[in-house]
Amino acid sequence: MLVTQQPVFRRHWHAVMPLADLQDGPKPFTLLGENIVLFLDEHGEPAALKDRCCHRTAKLSKGWCKNGKLQCGYHGWVYNRSGRVIEIPQYGADREIPKDYGTPAYACTARYGYAWVALETPEADIPEMPEFGAPGWRTIFQFYETWNTSPVRALENSFDNSHFSFVHRATFGVAAQPKPSKYDIVENGQGFHAETVIDAANPARFQRISGVKDPITQRHMRNAYMQPFSRRLDIEYPSGVRHVIINCFTPIDDGRIQLCQWLFRNDTEADCPAQMLIDFDAEITREDKEILESTDPDAVVDLRRRGVEFSMDSDRPGILIRRQLMAMLAAAGEGEVHR
Ligand code: FES
Ligand code: CO
Repeated sequence: MLVTQQPVFRRHWHAVMPLADLQDGPKPFTLLGENIVLFLDEHGEPAALKDRCCHRTAKLSKGWCKNGKLQCGYHGWVYNRSGRVIEIPQYGADREIPKDYGTPAYACTARYGYAWVALETPEADIPEMPEFGAPGWRTIFQFYETWNTSPVRALENSFDNSHFSFVHRATFGVAAQPKPSKYDIVENGQGFHAETVIDAANPARFQRISGVKDPITQRHMRNAYMQPFSRRLDIEYPSGVRHVIINCFTPIDDGRIQLCQWLFRNDTEADCPAQMLIDFDAEITREDKEILESTDPDAVVDLRRRGVEFSMDSDRPGILIRRQLMAMLAAAGEGEVHR
């Protein structure tokens, strides 16, 4: 599936940038193949415009913010958050600016420390993150980085219990136990919930992460797919420590995603420092990134196209993700576009 060719994804919210990255001026981002510019308006709220000045097409992200408005760096035309040109420095104060001078604006809002963008009127809500700012939980902004893969590949990997003994053999995978644990899956209107218990290697260097002292520990995994491209993984260790990860696999184009990862923990900095948690998950996500970047990003969503990719039992969640995406395309009157 080529995500940029499926208009339905334009009508969903995508996490595009930490708000902290916008404090020092406008920034470019590419969402579903569209070049956009993000900036903070006069109320500190994020705004998103097409990254193209309507005068001579300069990238607006080369400009700067001026009292919550965006000024083009080429000839200084000034845009408001609706994309309208509200100031042309070369004009006198009494000269009116034509009403059609402007650039397209997109739906943009702040939530969970990020700017979220929908390229067209969104038809679903931003995924819920109930632990964000909740008492007893700390929030760690773990990763914001580009991967050369597609959201479908990243999603199926997130529910794949067969790769731990191989991809993660140097970290939490148990090489001697390649047989995957089975997921109990319950579908809901926004995706599905998948629950299982796995054995995970727990060497001394991971024992503050898990709160468990044994060399092998169990992870109770409550994993959820949230359409179209997000997932929530709640790992509970026998110690009672919970390690809750939210991923948004934001589509940049047909070969790249922006990995946005939040971590919520119910322990304290004294129990396990944030930097240790970042380093731990960085090591694991590096392993996934390495193998995912070797796969074909044009993942086949319609597996009825037999012989393109073959499957095994543990691919069931990934097949369900595909089936739900197919239903989403069908409801929008779209067929799968692929190379
Ligand atoms: Fe932007 Fe001229 S190109 S003001
Ligand atoms: Co993995």
